[in-house]
Amino acid sequence: MSPLPLVKVAMPPRERLMPALEEVLYSGMIGEGEAVYDFERRFCAQFGLPVALATSSGTGSLHVALLLAGAGPEREVITTSMTAEPTNTVIMQTGATPVFADVDPDTGNLSPDAIRAAISERTAAICVVHYAGYPADLAALRSIADAHGIALVEDCAHALGARYAGKPIGTIGDSAIFSLQAIKHMTTVDGGILALRDADQTLLAKQFRWFGLTKGVPRTEVDLKRPGFKYNMSNVTATIGLAQLEHIDSLIARHRDNGRFFDRELAGIAGLRPAPVATDADPSYWLYTLLADNSDEVERCLGAIGVNASKLHRPNHLHSAFAPFAGPLPGLERFYDRLIHIPCGWWVDDEDRQRIVDALAKG
Ligand SMILES: Cc1ncc(COP(=O)(O)O)c(C=O)c1O
Repeated sequence: MSPLPLVKVAMPPRERLMPALEEVLYSGMIGEGEAVYDFERRFCAQFGLPVALATSSGTGSLHVALLLAGAGPEREVITTSMTAEPTNTVIMQTGATPVFADVDPDTGNLSPDAIRAAISERTAAICVVHYAGYPADLAALRSIADAHGIALVEDCAHALGARYAGKPIGTIGDSAIFSLQAIKHMTTVDGGILALRDADQTLLAKQFRWFGLTKGVPRTEVDLKRPGFKYNMSNVTATIGLAQLEHIDSLIARHRDNGRFFDRELAGIAGLRPAPVATDADPSYWLYTLLADNSDEVERCLGAIGVNASKLHRPNHLHSAFAPFAGPLPGLERFYDRLIHIPCGWWVDDEDRQRIVDALAKG
């Protein structure tokens, strides 16, 4: 039997998806069009976002979000090293300097105090990642951003369906991005969402998404003022997204149910501690984050019962490309040393999760 994976691709039922895909593939309208706009409207409604633009990736969405936030040469973006690399590659691609602030040693999310210490007159934005689907301290981050007149960009790639202070994740920052890449809560194979708080930024964001051009204006008349990118979504991937939206709520509910089960059941086990959930936060548990006195031992223990567990990411400042921008990060070191992710997604059933708890309790 293959091991219980840490991440897994979720596809809609074949009988729902295949006829819709066949129809769009042979419709003669496979690029950006009505399916994309329909997907954007429904995504907005389902996840409580004011404006959502569909893109080719979370990375592309974040690139545009940072440009809208004013990131560029001579500017800095305060960011986290405890993330997937694209959070920080795009900061550098804007020409801005990433400034790595330390994280809370128990959650892996950016520490408000470390952000305050990192602010300078060159700061354009704070880029916060809700690591593994656990919302960061958004109340503190919003007030820091407001006090300094800088943008707050939420990287919600891990956090689809999470909430903070009763609000949908992605609505407290000035902008937010979601990833629809293969192994996230929801996939369109590849794809992303850019959510904007200020609807006035929509036209510019759409231009960044499509070469710098304005859709709908005849190509012979349109004036390209600032080069953009090719970050648009296609009708084909949007068709997958539309089918995904029909079952995503129940999948996220299962992530959440498993996460809460582990929060309860693992709390009393010696040598282990569930990552704490921030006050007012309702995580969507893309990955379950466990802190262990000996994370290698947990990996071995679960491996022995056919369950994959791992750290998954590499702190970005350990890469040569980012190393020059990092100072001491003791909180991150303490977090990463104890970190071990265990499976908690929709594919983890009642028996699996009990098996995991029993194995960890036995040690
Ligand atoms: C935290 C984080 N930000 C951004 C991204 C980029 O998303 P995508 O792979 O859709 O480009 C990812 C996923 O790879 C991610 O995990």
